[in-house]
Amino acid sequence: MTKDIKKNKKPVAKKVVAKKVTSKKAVAKTVSKPAVKKASVKPAKAAAKKVVAKAVAKPVEKAIIKTLAKKSSGAFSVSAPDARGVATLTFDLPDEKINKLSAPVLLELSELMTDLHKRKDISLLVIQSAKKGIFIAGADIEEIKGLRKVDDALDKVKQGQDVLTQIEDLPFPTLALINGACMGGGTELILCCTYRVITDNKKAIIGLPEVNLGIFPGFGGSIRLPRLVGLVESLKIITSGKPVDGRKAEKIGLVQKQIPEGYLKDQFPKFIDRILAGKVEKENKTPWIDLTALTRNFVIQKTHDEIFKATKGQYPAPLKAVDVIESTYRIMSLKEGLRHEREEFSKLAVGDISKNLIQIFYTSEMLKKDDGVNGKAKPIEIKSAALLGAGVMGGGIAWSFSKIGVPVLMKDINWQGIGLGYKQVSKIYSQLKKIRKATSQEIDVKMNLISGTLDYSGFKTANIIVEAIVEDINVKKKVLAQTEKHVGAKTIIASNTSSLSINEMSTALKRPQNFIGMHFFNPVNRMPLVEVIAGKDTSDEAIATIFALSKRMGKTPILVGDCAGFIVNRILLPYMNEAVLMLEEGIDLERIDKLIYKFGMPMGPFTLADEVGIDVCYKVAKILHNAYGDRVVVSDLLRVIYEDKKLLGKKAGKGFFIHGGKEKVVNPQLPLPTAVSGVNDQTIIDRCILLMVNEAAMALEEGMIERAEYLDMAMIMGTGFPAFRGGLLRYSDSLGAEEVVSRLKELEKVHGKRFKPAKLLTDMAAKKRSFYN
Ligand code: NAI
Repeated sequence: MTKDIKKNKKPVAKKVVAKKVTSKKAVAKTVSKPAVKKASVKPAKAAAKKVVAKAVAKPVEKAIIKTLAKKSSGAFSVSAPDARGVATLTFDLPDEKINKLSAPVLLELSELMTDLHKRKDISLLVIQSAKKGIFIAGADIEEIKGLRKVDDALDKVKQGQDVLTQIEDLPFPTLALINGACMGGGTELILCCTYRVITDNKKAIIGLPEVNLGIFPGFGGSIRLPRLVGLVESLKIITSGKPVDGRKAEKIGLVQKQIPEGYLKDQFPKFIDRILAGKVEKENKTPWIDLTALTRNFVIQKTHDEIFKATKGQYPAPLKAVDVIESTYRIMSLKEGLRHEREEFSKLAVGDISKNLIQIFYTSEMLKKDDGVNGKAKPIEIKSAALLGAGVMGGGIAWSFSKIGVPVLMKDINWQGIGLGYKQVSKIYSQLKKIRKATSQEIDVKMNLISGTLDYSGFKTANIIVEAIVEDINVKKKVLAQTEKHVGAKTIIASNTSSLSINEMSTALKRPQNFIGMHFFNPVNRMPLVEVIAGKDTSDEAIATIFALSKRMGKTPILVGDCAGFIVNRILLPYMNEAVLMLEEGIDLERIDKLIYKFGMPMGPFTLADEVGIDVCYKVAKILHNAYGDRVVVSDLLRVIYEDKKLLGKKAGKGFFIHGGKEKVVNPQLPLPTAVSGVNDQTIIDRCILLMVNEAAMALEEGMIERAEYLDMAMIMGTGFPAFRGGLLRYSDSLGAEEVVSRLKELEKVHGKRFKPAKLLTDMAAKKRSFYN
């Protein structure tokens, strides 16, 4: 399926991309597909089903397990109590890789609890999972996604709360044995146990990641966690969504003990003996800071302010979690607290932001499983690499290879260049050391994997060459042709070009099947996206290799077509250019920047242009103009600012703003026209954002990317498009195709053809369709 991109790029090249970036051969082989069909997306339900494939785990202590009472769906089994009265409840959801607390599972658990409440022969119940690496993954996201009405949400969440309270109310103590990921509802379940033990298995972590889905813990987690570990730690866990490992869990009192996995057989029974002897504390001491309303308010206010600053208030879930904890912790009874928690949870669960964030979760799961070729080829194992160009990107790419333990040779035109590459890598490692993500010893080992050269010696043994030299098609072609003579017949050559045609470059090569685009984003160590561009001759093996390598580097690869600017820059540059066109018309620079920032972009277009470099923006805008004609009208002001005023942006201290002071100020050197009034805020936002929507629709229509979800993900990861809006096309869906087309037509009347609605959008408007259904 993904391979369609490779083929479908051909008609596009014919229709849209200028001759400069399209080889004749590519055009000749063109095969087209209906546009609207391309826009359809797979239902998320199907994707979700794929996430949880058939079970592979083997039950723990199966020999001693006897099934009690309910034999129906068989997610739970309880062993007969041993001589001390210790019974074990094992959670092993049939035909699933993971344990999750879906509605049927909760029902079964509830019935089991009702039976267990009557048992007199149990002195302690151990709760464990039979799944490898998983304790409980959480509630069923598909069920949360399906919630549309507050009342339905209330019913559902109350069911979960009640079942977990049944565990808490058992007439004997309970002990959770956590030997794998314990997330969301799983964590809320262990909070209802009397004791908790975790192992040192790397997968054994405890977390409440609900805020990532636009909600907060609703099965009692927001009420019980502060009671167990105090205000500060519970706020950190709930509002960040980040899990803690076993060591941290023990330190903050979330578990009573961490036991090394290898010693479990010996130490776990001993720990049970200590519990039975009454030697293990059930609760932690309340931290002093929690004792007075004044100190509690201080913590709450500080947390609230920090979240607001980081999220601009656009992600309501963590703020709501803080509110709920503020109004329940040490104020309400457990019962009242649970009621308040479920009421607030239900309002968020039915909201658009939660639905958008859940969709993003599903898309990232889909991308994790995408190998770029639908299993048609196996990746080549990358054991050593070489790089052409040790500049800004080369340095970052060298770091990425060294990070995953792959020796990498950097080639540049002089030693000074190589020195800069080393400096770049060393800077990234120093930053990691500062935040304790790498030790000096680890850094020494990794730095030793990097070496430099001025010639091609050593290239023969590399499995992959990544080219990151100057963005000039003629230079690149010459260097690539030379390189090919010095590498093995199977060596893959990948270009990190940000805008040049892979097909055009491949004409310089004898083995174009080994050539591919691997577009990293700047800064390489922080940007998660890699656009993978397959040329018309690129082999499946090369695509599969770049996908596997990108994932090994911790990146998300997305296959895109060979068009000017690929996906992200093709959409982003016209938007930045549009902002400069508005400036040229006399609309206030800071107003535009602020409106777009408020819309949710990480920074306004002028701040972004200064970050990227005005030279880069101008050059790429020109490349896009050559490819797409009047759709990208390069602003004359941009030309003047770059060519006449020689303003380069932040790297030179001056661009649209003056940098270096405490706060950036608008550059007085800008040749700005007389200010105009009467332009409303929405028009400014529409000119920026709907222009991007339109370009995105065209890219999708042309088959430059497989699906709307992937395009949205590329924009979120590549440009920081606000995740709470679900992505660019999801934002368009929220307005409706009819509305988008109508606004674009209005803009077209005033500002010209670049706003002419894409055919896909007008078709969707006519058929009342959206990108996501
Ligand atoms: P840069 O100017 O920092 O580095 C280029 C390096 O290549 C220099 O060290 C130069 O000496 C070296 N070089 C030039 N000709 C060479 C040759 N024949 N053999 C070996 N080395 C040679 O450039 P930067 O920014 O790292 O860009 C490199 C490539 O990455 C370009 O294609 C650019 O479009 C692309 N790119 C750049 C991004 C950015 O934000 N800077 C983002 C994504 C892609």
